[in-house]
Amino acid sequence: MSKDFNIQITRTTCPKAKPDEANLGFGRIFTDHMFLMDYTTENGWHNARIEPYHALAMDPASMVFHYAQECFEGLKAYRRPDGKVQLFRPMKNIERMNRTNRRLCIPELDADDALKAIQTLVKLEEDFVPSLDGTSLYIRPFIIATEPHLGVKPADSYLFCIILSPVGAYYKEGLNPVKIFVEDEYVRAVKGGIGYAKAGANYVASLAAQVKAHELGYSQVLWLDGVEHKYVDEVGAMNIFFVLEGEVVTPELVGSILPGVTRDSCINLLRSFGYTVNERRISIDEIIAAHENGKLLEVFGTGTAAVISPVGELNAHGKKMTIGTGEIGTLSQKLYDTLTGIQWGKLEDTFNWTVGIDA
Ligand code: COI
Repeated sequence: MSKDFNIQITRTTCPKAKPDEANLGFGRIFTDHMFLMDYTTENGWHNARIEPYHALAMDPASMVFHYAQECFEGLKAYRRPDGKVQLFRPMKNIERMNRTNRRLCIPELDADDALKAIQTLVKLEEDFVPSLDGTSLYIRPFIIATEPHLGVKPADSYLFCIILSPVGAYYKEGLNPVKIFVEDEYVRAVKGGIGYAKAGANYVASLAAQVKAHELGYSQVLWLDGVEHKYVDEVGAMNIFFVLEGEVVTPELVGSILPGVTRDSCINLLRSFGYTVNERRISIDEIIAAHENGKLLEVFGTGTAAVISPVGELNAHGKKMTIGTGEIGTLSQKLYDTLTGIQWGKLEDTFNWTVGIDA
């Protein structure tokens, strides 16, 4: 922790009514407070504070508006059966945020300060952590370049902000299988680019393909590599896993893929179940062939927001492949039950992944 890291807290005088837990949706409801911290080249990160949730007043020349110097993270707080609240592997998100920062020339955060900021804010908003099955409090830390300047260069001032949103399922399908369109026209990222960074810019690059997929009746896009349009990268808001005969495959982290915290957790869980998990290149042709030979047993996506999302149909080059029976597979279900069991404190956390909110 940096030696003088203190968080000044100003409480709201008009608390919001708590939302209906049965109708949270994803990312539309926000809590009473937000965390803020400024950066300047002279003072480094300073002025850590929690304030009532409010709109930001910004100079229209702020560099984030023009050159997208911005990064974000996504993690969750969960209500345990005993009523306590816990986080899931928060340091993994903070470490990833700092890897993103290095790539985007944003000053790094002190990891312990960032954890304390998350814990302090979640503790203050503890009553917003829902308890209904499948719900949680989504935590969205982000950093934006605030220097008013139209030259292209790393900014010399930034704002680090954390907002909180009580959420239900990310997809309207919940744990029901989603239909995914394999995109072979647009690309999301290339090796050497920023694909591995959690930058808003990666998500804007995905929108046109997402709109196209939605128009065709699909929930998400499966991205192929940006050079040969042949190897699988990831899905819009998730990493992807293929259960084949004898192995579970997920694309290796070659620089264009987001290193998901849920991805890593699933690899560990699958290995603990006794499965062989290979992080390797897998081409869409291999997947089509495995499907034709009856060897493509299950497909699922993983992500903080999406959790485990079974895939019921893949459309590759106009070829529609129903995965298994089109229903959730047994391994996807087991993985979901185990992962969420640990996250919601219903199963023993043998991996030591959960962290309390007392800073
Ligand atoms: C997350 O899973 O937290 C993500 O960042 C996905 C998000 C773009 C909704």
